[in-house]
Amino acid sequence: MREEQLRERLLRFERESRYLKKDSNERKVFEEVFDRATLWAIDHLLSSGQLDYLNGVVNAGKEARVYWGVAPDGSARAVKIYLTASAEFKKRLRYVAGDRRFNKIPSTSRGIAELWVQKEFKNLQLAQKAGVRVPTPYAFNENVLVMEYIGEPPAPAPRFIDTEVGEADYRWAMEMIEKLYRKAQLVHADLSEYNVFKLKEECVLFDMGSAVLTTHPEARELLLRDVANMVRFFKRRGIFEERAEEIVERIVS
Ligand SMILES: Nc1ncnc2c1ncn2[C@@H]1O[C@H](COP(=O)(O)OP(=O)(O)O)[C@@H](O)[C@H]1O
Ligand SMILES: [Mg+2]
Repeated sequence: MREEQLRERLLRFERESRYLKKDSNERKVFEEVFDRATLWAIDHLLSSGQLDYLNGVVNAGKEARVYWGVAPDGSARAVKIYLTASAEFKKRLRYVAGDRRFNKIPSTSRGIAELWVQKEFKNLQLAQKAGVRVPTPYAFNENVLVMEYIGEPPAPAPRFIDTEVGEADYRWAMEMIEKLYRKAQLVHADLSEYNVFKLKEECVLFDMGSAVLTTHPEARELLLRDVANMVRFFKRRGIFEERAEEIVERIVS
């Protein structure tokens, strides 16, 4: 009963969401996200007091769909549901393969999505403990992750790509990359102007699912890519120019 209500409710959000194309086969797309197991995972988060209700779609990506959720105390949550049908994860399995925290690689796509949620949750915890500003992770269950909502719902905060940035933002980004590496022993591995929120007083790094430990065999290569992405973006915005290789040298030395 509850499952059916939940399904109907979520389907309504999908219909109202501006992200869904009019001509798409709604039901089918929907069923791909909310299979039975995912509905149960959400139901569990509702009944365990992590969430009071879901309020609508924030973003529909290739790998994950983000919902605006509300906690029992009324505060907003970002609920990231990893799509179990996404082929994208398989492409990115190398981020898991070299990570000593995850020595067993699941064989099903559902298993992979669940692993990804665990990984993002742990990465957020590690980053936060090291003093890197990220969304606070609250809970996860199977392929569903609950974290702090950044922005004024229903709108998420603007990302670097969406807004004006200045030299202070560049410095902040470099400092966070360094802190993440040295203190959290992590490399974001998917860093770009699309994965940093800019608030009035601060910036917030997010989308940490890809992040790897610095002991990962490709950590340095991934670090260089992260740094180079940031440098390229800020250069395009006419802010600053440093050589990515030099920055990486400085960070790892
Ligand atoms: N904590 C959050 N608070 C508010 N919005 C969020 C949050 N996390 C993600 N979003 C929204 O969902 C989008 C996709 O999230 P992201 O974690 O980057 O997933 P993907 O793996 O699909 O890139 C973001 O660009 C943002 O609009
Ligand atoms: Mg992203």
